[in-house]
Amino acid sequence: MNAASPLTPHPSPVITIDGPSASGKGTVAERVATALGFHFLDSGALYRLTALSAMKQGVALDDEARVAELAAHLPASFHDGSVWLSGENVTDAIRAEAVGEGASKVAALPAVRAALLDRQRAYRQPPGLVADGRDMGTVVFAAAVAKVFLTASAEARAERRYKQLIEKGNSASLTALVADMQARDARDSARTVAPLKPAPDALLLDTTHMDIESAVQAVLAHYALCKARSKQ
Ligand code: DC
Repeated sequence: MNAASPLTPHPSPVITIDGPSASGKGTVAERVATALGFHFLDSGALYRLTALSAMKQGVALDDEARVAELAAHLPASFHDGSVWLSGENVTDAIRAEAVGEGASKVAALPAVRAALLDRQRAYRQPPGLVADGRDMGTVVFAAAVAKVFLTASAEARAERRYKQLIEKGNSASLTALVADMQARDARDSARTVAPLKPAPDALLLDTTHMDIESAVQAVLAHYALCKARSKQ
């Protein structure tokens, strides 16, 4: 018999890590995936790729039908530690501030979110998946075995972003970054489809005073606990 019975755990468990931007969830999710030998989904990258694709093709970011069409057929792939769009290495391009802004806009369109659903779910492959985003635990993998909502104060997140920018040789204003962080949180939390909010069964992990390694260990411990519970 191939179909798993309702009592058999799915062969590809999913750990969801959601939270606001610059909460450190991307780094934590990637390290958890490496520690467990699981696949990793950076769902934000798919929204960024959709926005970049629309910008390149001159499609207006509020043209829901056309942007959704692009999202449904994104010629994107992730390999060799890079992100590719139609054979072009866009690893750095999708991290540009303007593309982040665009991603936040297209992410508010219901048809775009619907178009990316199957693509995200296809990442669920043995031996398991760590999925990073905003609605992984609430919508895309609502039945995940372990869910985490990673957060940190807007000030702490702005400070982390500030350090990253300065290290890369860019100039930045901490005050402007805090305001930016608060504005983006408000937009991601207020949208009607899949707003940024913790799943009711998610572990809330506030990393304001926590380093990356402690956050990774906390997620791994939570997963071990959830896995043991799901076998009872
Ligand atoms: O995590 P990120 O900054 O790369 O995400 C880019 C944008 O995409 C951000 O504005 C939130 C949105 N997003 C989303 O709405 N749902 C997700 N699962 C992931 C990202």
